[in-house]
Amino acid sequence: MRRILVTGAASAIAHEAAKHFAADGDSFFLVGRDPDKLAAVADDLRARGAKQVATAVVDLLDLARCSRLIDEAAQELGHLDMLLVAQGTLPDQAQCESNPVLALREFSLNAMGPITLLLRAAAQFESQRSGCLAVITSVAGVRGRRTNYVYGAAKAAVSTFLEGLRGRLREAGVSVVDIRPGFVDTPMTAHLPRKTLFVRPEAVGERIYRAMVAGDDVVYVPWFWRWIALVIQLIPRSIFVKLSI
Ligand SMILES: NC(=O)c1ccc[n+]([C@@H]2O[C@H](COP(=O)([O-])OP(=O)(O)OC[C@H]3O[C@@H](n4cnc5c(N)ncnc54)[C@H](OP(=O)(O)O)[C@@H]3O)[C@@H](O)[C@H]2O)c1
Repeated sequence: MRRILVTGAASAIAHEAAKHFAADGDSFFLVGRDPDKLAAVADDLRARGAKQVATAVVDLLDLARCSRLIDEAAQELGHLDMLLVAQGTLPDQAQCESNPVLALREFSLNAMGPITLLLRAAAQFESQRSGCLAVITSVAGVRGRRTNYVYGAAKAAVSTFLEGLRGRLREAGVSVVDIRPGFVDTPMTAHLPRKTLFVRPEAVGERIYRAMVAGDDVVYVPWFWRWIALVIQLIPRSIFVKLSI
């Protein structure tokens, strides 16, 4: 039985991942900002077989609160085996460009909150010499595109952080999983026109479950984004700067 902390637990993707762990009889400490959504996810996971489900209503922009969550979850569940960080917002790039306070707020939610959680969890998992740290980052972090570089920069920061953390925790037997989805059909992208590359959150959740159980490192979802990301990385800067994507 695994004991799992999920932050941003009402996320469509995180909920789909948690359903698989619940079917294994795992226990959860679910964190989110909306009590009704959180209660609905908790009830669903209990119905699917979760052994224990505790919840905490937290605004994850509160970094001091983020830094206490690992201890709270471990205390509530008796131990902690896994962390899945799923909170995120897709900011309006134009608004961020004219409002630095908003841009930094978005950066904080997408990068500083996750990093705060990771630092606390890393210390705990390193001392217990086991565990899995997983974050949903994004293919948006692969390169700074003019249309969403605030979000992309935050996701890139977390991916870089995860890479270093993976090196630090390797000998302690702690896995560090960087999940990089492409376009997923969730509330976060509800305002975007649906393109052919959109996938359902069910498929992403199932891949996250498998990656966390196996202790994978960097996982593109679906798999073909690994190759799209590679091509994007190979575009010369002189050409990339002229693209309107
Ligand atoms: N959808 C995509 O195309 C896509 C692609 C790549 C990566 N991702 C990443 O996947 C993760 C999950 O997103 P999703 O697609 O499942 O969208 P989602 O259903 O909108 O989930 C995002 C979650 O973040 C929570 N959140 C936002 N601000 C918060 C705050 N201040 N405090 C606490 N929780 C907060 C939201 O809470 P509320 O429910 O209260 O709003 C929501 O539960 C995000 O990190 C996102 O960046 C998504």
